[in-house]
Amino acid sequence: MRKIKWGILSTATIAVEQVIPAIQQSQLGQVWAIASRREEKAKITAHQFDIPYYHKNYEELLNDPEVEAVYIPLPNHLHVKWATKALRAGKHVLVEKPVAMNVKEAQALLEEAPQHPELKIMEAFMYKFHPQWIDVKQKIREGAIGNLEMIQSSFSFFDDDPASIVNVKEYGGGSLMDVGCYPVSISRYLFDAEPIRVLSTQGFHSDFEVDVTTSGILEFEAGRSIFFSSIGLMEHQEVKLFGTRGKIEFEIPFNPPRDRAVTVKMTTKDGVKELSFGPGDQYSLQTDAFSRAIIEDGPVPVPLNDAVQNMKVIEAIKENSHE
Ligand SMILES: NC(=O)c1ccc[n+]([C@@H]2O[C@H](COP(=O)([O-])OP(=O)(O)OC[C@H]3O[C@@H](n4cnc5c(N)ncnc54)[C@H](OP(=O)(O)O)[C@@H]3O)[C@@H](O)[C@H]2O)c1
Repeated sequence: MRKIKWGILSTATIAVEQVIPAIQQSQLGQVWAIASRREEKAKITAHQFDIPYYHKNYEELLNDPEVEAVYIPLPNHLHVKWATKALRAGKHVLVEKPVAMNVKEAQALLEEAPQHPELKIMEAFMYKFHPQWIDVKQKIREGAIGNLEMIQSSFSFFDDDPASIVNVKEYGGGSLMDVGCYPVSISRYLFDAEPIRVLSTQGFHSDFEVDVTTSGILEFEAGRSIFFSSIGLMEHQEVKLFGTRGKIEFEIPFNPPRDRAVTVKMTTKDGVKELSFGPGDQYSLQTDAFSRAIIEDGPVPVPLNDAVQNMKVIEAIKENSHE
């Protein structure tokens, strides 16, 4: 099968540390070009990764006729703007999470997409492509732990650098947007439904005005999800699933490393089973799934509407929160 020619919009940390190498190692993708706000940065990064072409700004990359798909790892306030421009330039779009700053913006992108029926667009929630999640979802569906009724999760790291995009309110910073979007996403993914009620509290940074910590309860018809996200606590990630007849615990739920296997522990009345997944690169798997949808002109693995629904829950958490 042929390889899709990808263009990378910016020299973002996530692009450099994960996604560029992942596309280069994927079966169906190749990194064709990169753009930066500063030509020198684009040139250096292109050289570092042996990327054939670089562009001195994002527009120029979108005008590159060879680029078929673009990956958009820009700060959150630029996601919809550049995803829209990319679609209008005839490019397929993989846009980082969370898809937008708010529901209104996400909805605008959802309305733009059908105007380009030949193009694919997807939000880059890469965890969905890791075999551990595909397997656990299947086990839940099969009733391996009875009825799933409680999800307990958290995602945190420490970042008090004023220059970091997570600490800039206007860029869509804060813990909920940066990492809290994962507990929201996995809850909707596992319950296969939207929450009927949202309870939350948020604690804000006195200078940066972004939420340092968000705690929430999402109530679904089938059960509840309790979570917190933080950019003011030590790096940690955790997911535990409680069913009527068992529980499942992830070793590294969101960022499993590409070079070693990770374990998922399932406990039922029959005992403890340690399931091993990987090594594998979820970003490569995401690239291949998206590239395949382009090559075969099939549906993308996760429709854009899912990103809008996730944004609705994020917005509800913000609106209903108490300090
Ligand atoms: N899926 C994942 O695993 C994952 C992990 C981390 C982050 N993310 C998401 O990826 C996106 C980028 O995160 P990151 O941590 O990689 O960010 P980052 O390192 O700060 O990179 C963002 C890039 O955007 C460009 N940019 C354009 N306008 C900018 C502005 N006004 N301020 C700052 N940068 C600007 C810059 O590239 P140039 O200077 O080259 O133009 C910058 O390097 C976010 O949406 C985040 O939520 C996803």
